Amino acid sequence: MPTPFHLAFILNFTTDDWQGPFGNGGNPWDGEFHIGVARALERACFDYVIIEDKLMVPETYGGSAAAALRQAAIAPKHDPVPLAAAMGKATSELGIVATLSTLAYPPFMTARLSSTMDSLLRGRFGWNIVTSAEDLAAQNFGMDQLPPREQRYEMADEYVDLVRQLFDSWDADAVVLDRERGVFADPDKVRPIHFRGKYFASRGPLNTVPSPQHRPAFVQAGASPRGRAFAARNADSVIAIANGPEEMKRFRDDVRAKAADQGRDPDSIKVLFCVTPTLGETDAEARERHERMVNAPEFIQDVLVQVSALTQIDFARFDLDQPLPHRLETNGEKGTLDQFQQWGSGKTLRQLVVENAGGLVSSVELIGSPDTVAERMGEVMAEVGGDGFMLTTPLLRLNRRYIADVTEGLVPALQRRGLARDRYEPGRTLRQRLLEF
Ligand SMILES: Cc1cc2nc3c(=O)[nH]c(=O)nc-3n(C[C@H](O)[C@H](O)[C@H](O)COP(=O)(O)O)c2cc1C
Repeated sequence: MPTPFHLAFILNFTTDDWQGPFGNGGNPWDGEFHIGVARALERACFDYVIIEDKLMVPETYGGSAAAALRQAAIAPKHDPVPLAAAMGKATSELGIVATLSTLAYPPFMTARLSSTMDSLLRGRFGWNIVTSAEDLAAQNFGMDQLPPREQRYEMADEYVDLVRQLFDSWDADAVVLDRERGVFADPDKVRPIHFRGKYFASRGPLNTVPSPQHRPAFVQAGASPRGRAFAARNADSVIAIANGPEEMKRFRDDVRAKAADQGRDPDSIKVLFCVTPTLGETDAEARERHERMVNAPEFIQDVLVQVSALTQIDFARFDLDQPLPHRLETNGEKGTLDQFQQWGSGKTLRQLVVENAGGLVSSVELIGSPDTVAERMGEVMAEVGGDGFMLTTPLLRLNRRYIADVTEGLVPALQRRGLARDRYEPGRTLRQRLLEF
């Protein structure tokens, strides 16, 4: 039997596929829809679900919020942490990862919130560490604009050091619960940290008890060289998008080499590659579904509104039937931009969007029956060397059929091949789960 690979799923607390026949009607704000998704992912033995987050209403495409609001693209978006708590309480083994931006939350709050969540979820919580990548988000927190990328990651490195020290401000055995002597916590095992950095300061100690994982699992999606260095230093799991198996392998090898340079065991970081399969009962049916999606009248604008928001570049300015006029640069999400623009390919903007849904969400094209797609995923992983896949949401809009396709069709096909976990070892923490293979 081959070694299984890791599976995770990324979604957002935003509207579902509200216009589609398998959607939930655009009203998922009581959390029930997403909780149902978490339960389905747990039945399929996923490692974790991650709730993505953004902190603004985009105004990049066409210079206004109109397209984003009309299409419900990126906004509205509700806070991931309460949803993570609700999902966590409705499941018992699935890891639950929420996004908290280093630009937005004071480090003490992130440490306290994620420690609280890890205790609530009995060791299954993860923190998706993002620096935010939009001026519009920065402006919601009193800044005029986003700091440059290098500085954002420098700040984030310091931020993570501080948060780690806060977790360590309580020794693992600080809570003694000695009824006889009347001692809850041993005062010699809890201490201030007096952290004073270039960007952040905190006195400490944290005022939460050590959680089951002591610190939550750290997830990160940096793609630029600086972003990868950050991930290699800090992450237990890295989310990546790359164009095809060769680039995937290069990405993973690079993160692993950078981790080894920092004195870490490369096997302690699990790199998961984003894929968005289109599944059908037969290959032909899957292909037909895919064609229908990319040829829908709203598809192109939908993709461009999202890419514009993530890269801070107004793609409404470019001719759809011409290649991009020059290589684009951004202080926003650089990895997303480079993946999208495929500079040098000579493709028109329309082709960039239509082929592979704009390259926005899939590292390899996966279209076919569950068996066809499972087979291909196995081949790709063998070529890349590991560590697994992050299933994403087509155009960031989830519906019940897609969840069923993945959890009831694709995952069983992977399990039959020994490529995916088919049962959980009960009671493991998220970090232990990630280290199982
Ligand atoms: C699958 C995936 C999920 C991401 N989720 C978020 C998110 O929830 N919030 C956010 O601000 N950025 C998110 N990002 C952006 C990354 O944090 C990062 O900024 C981006 O991948 C570009 O890398 P760079 O910052 O090194 O240029 C995500 C990226 C990917 C690929």
